[in-house]
Amino acid sequence: MGKIVVSGGKKLEGEVTISGAKNAILPVLAACLLSKRPLALERVPNLDDVFTMVRVLESLGVRVNWKAQVLEIDPSGVYTDEVPPSLMQKMRASSLVMGAMLGRFGKVRISSPGGCVIGSRPIDLHLKGFRAMGTAIRERHGFIEAEAKKLHGAEVHLDFPSVGATENIMMAAVMAQGTTIIRNAAREPEIIDLQNFLNKLGAKVKGAGLNIIRIDGMQAIGRDVAYQVIPDRIETGTFMVAAAITGGSLLIKNTIPEHVEAVVAKLREAGVKIEVESDRIFVRGTPMWKAVDIQTLPFPGFPTDMQPQMMSFLSLAQGTSVITENIFENRFRHVGELRKMGANIRTEGRTSIIRGVSQLSGSVVEASDLRAGAALVLAGLAAEGTTVIEGVYHIDRGYEDLVGKLRSLGADIGRV
Ligand code: EPZ
Repeated sequence: MGKIVVSGGKKLEGEVTISGAKNAILPVLAACLLSKRPLALERVPNLDDVFTMVRVLESLGVRVNWKAQVLEIDPSGVYTDEVPPSLMQKMRASSLVMGAMLGRFGKVRISSPGGCVIGSRPIDLHLKGFRAMGTAIRERHGFIEAEAKKLHGAEVHLDFPSVGATENIMMAAVMAQGTTIIRNAAREPEIIDLQNFLNKLGAKVKGAGLNIIRIDGMQAIGRDVAYQVIPDRIETGTFMVAAAITGGSLLIKNTIPEHVEAVVAKLREAGVKIEVESDRIFVRGTPMWKAVDIQTLPFPGFPTDMQPQMMSFLSLAQGTSVITENIFENRFRHVGELRKMGANIRTEGRTSIIRGVSQLSGSVVEASDLRAGAALVLAGLAAEGTTVIEGVYHIDRGYEDLVGKLRSLGADIGRV
């Protein structure tokens, strides 16, 4: 299982380079199924979720070859339409292959994606889009079977700007007959990255980053392309908080400041000094910082994936902060663990009230999911004494060498 042990109190100093974005590479990997031509993905982050998605592709017949950080992918030999249930249960983002499989083969069978600790996470909006494009969907015995003789373009209005639903419908639409319009589409940067990748393959997608996306269906797509996804904005935010919570100073390289504007604004509001340039951010923490209120919202609002990390930071702020989690129904599992470390937090439904304390104390705590795990590491960096974080496999799903990067910045941290 693995544990992280961190002794708090060290200021982080130095510079860190951000890896490729987990939430960009996962849909791009799924989109490879649409192409018949081999392609290469560069600077792919070494993340467990990437390894899982690669296994999903291989289970469908895609040949994948890792060469250093370049992933060579040959999707010409796809021979089955069923994703193994074990892989679906391991990572719900495996459902992102549905759109591409329907687009290319007109058929896909997956086991119903389990919810996870942060919420039920249904895919009803994904299926609504597929149905609008002419797909017959059957849900039985815990499986979802989708079949479409030939997908046709449609107008789809998403009740909620779901990231996954937007991505899945985009992928299904690139070879449908006619034009598909997605309204109330998600506007996350990862959607723009997927659009850029699909267009490089020869698709015709426009509007990503706004709330209406238009896809004109093509006969076939696929070119010998090489592609590199955007840097990870949530890893960027996590390191910004690491500098802020330890009162250190950190240069964050290979990042896109526009992708973390909401986080920059909130940290500045709390009193953190932040300078941004085109591809880097300099963060200088202060000995004390002020409480701030946070509402998580779809992009460009404050990202839910940074909510746990900010809660650790605000546990030590001067004053009382209110955090409202509007995206997921159960994303406060880190509250109990932070309270074990001395945080003063009260949760009522989707709102947590954090009364800043003067210090946190090291404790044995448990990561419940990826970002909660990151939040506990951040709290440990600032806590008095030693913190042991269990459930480290959650962290390995979405952070490339978090412990190594923190240690290179002066943190007293290791894995056992
Ligand atoms: C993506 O998940 C990210 N994952 C999540 O990051 C991120 O938290 C989330 O977007 C929101 O930004 C990947 O990109 C792989 P949604 P996704 O569909 O696509 C509800 C991390 O830590 N919903 O925008 O699953 C859903 O239940 C992960 O990196 C429906 O009701 O998010 C949730 O409450 C965690 N029906 C809300 O919408 C649907 O059909 C947001 O979900 C789809 C979603």
